Amino acid sequence: NNVITVCELANKMAVKSSEIIKKMMKLGYIVTINQSLDKDMAQLVAEEMGHKVTIYHEDKLEQDIMKNRDISNERVQIRPPIVAIMGHVDHGKTSLLDYIRLTKIASQEAGGITQHIGAYHIEVRKKIITFLDTPGHAAFTAMRSRGAQITDIVVLVVASDDGVKPQTIEAIQHAQAASVPILVAINKIDKPNSEPEKVKNELIKYNILPEEWGGDNIFVNISAKTGEGIDNLLKSILLQSEMLELKTTISGMATGLVIESFLDKGKGPIATILIQEGTLKKGDIVLCGLEYGKIRAIKNSLGKEVQFASPSIPVEILGLSGIPIAGDKVVVVGDEKKAKEVSIYRQMKFREKKLTKKSSFKLSNIFEKI
Ligand code: GTP
Ligand code: MG
Repeated sequence: NNVITVCELANKMAVKSSEIIKKMMKLGYIVTINQSLDKDMAQLVAEEMGHKVTIYHEDKLEQDIMKNRDISNERVQIRPPIVAIMGHVDHGKTSLLDYIRLTKIASQEAGGITQHIGAYHIEVRKKIITFLDTPGHAAFTAMRSRGAQITDIVVLVVASDDGVKPQTIEAIQHAQAASVPILVAINKIDKPNSEPEKVKNELIKYNILPEEWGGDNIFVNISAKTGEGIDNLLKSILLQSEMLELKTTISGMATGLVIESFLDKGKGPIATILIQEGTLKKGDIVLCGLEYGKIRAIKNSLGKEVQFASPSIPVEILGLSGIPIAGDKVVVVGDEKKAKEVSIYRQMKFREKKLTKKSSFKLSNIFEKI
């Protein structure tokens, strides 16, 4: 039951690993820097080196750090909707996102956009909409299995020349299981063999009905090729989001979710996150899954450095101790030293679990890059 490596123990005691190795040699043990020690051994060495050892039980560390967060909820505001585009292969999801992005972002931002962020936001009629650039199903599954939900609205793209297909149905099931409203975008209406009414009929079976038929789904006919109907779609998204009355606090320490992460050779671990509550500021201390860190930089979806991030706006953060995984919670806390302890503690627990399960852990990005 090994819980901490020599290196981690050294970090915790703020001594060099070599000192621990020397000390242990004196005690009759030959160890290397990456070797794991069990609880008793770690305690013995630490005490031999004059440190007081506190063994935390049942997440006391975590409870302490969470108790001391500023969660002032004075300022409640409407927040932008987070919209996932889903649908069957080749039905036009990427084309739709591209069309929206090109017409709504690139026009304001000469030179285009750095394109590695898995989410972006646009402004329509002074209101913001955040789009998740995902293959949809994977994102839903990953987030749901981790008890997290980020999507407020699903835009179901159905090609009007192809109709309802297996992945259309899968997307419907995911959205319905998560109780997320579905807005139907009937795409490719520019095509001569387009049959939008047929799509409407096919969807009845899945409990998706337009308002004029007594249902509560909004339907919009669009063409991601010509742009026809897309303004209408954006208007409908705003309407749907008003009905949802999406609110959150913008004061207090931020919480959010990781939607994507990777390692940049020069800059270190980078995570794309969506803030859910509060405001994230540069310099904030965060706990993020098994990792922690002091936010060194915040970048918006245009790749521009910003000083803070408010709810529903996707940003990239730099400064984490390692790479978190999609669905990890980001929580701003007050104390860097304690955050580090919690992070080490979480890693120990994670390792213990992994050892007992013997299952392999795969770190994968679930978001599609377009
Ligand atoms: P996957 O990511 O593979 O699931 O596909 P997708 O849903 O992102 O589809 P994508 O946007 O890649 O479009 C598939 C094909 O349909 C491309 O060749 C597009 O040019 C074409 N297409 C998309 N929307 C329209 C449309 O409104 N009209 C026409 N005529 N073609 C479209
Ligand atoms: Mg695509």
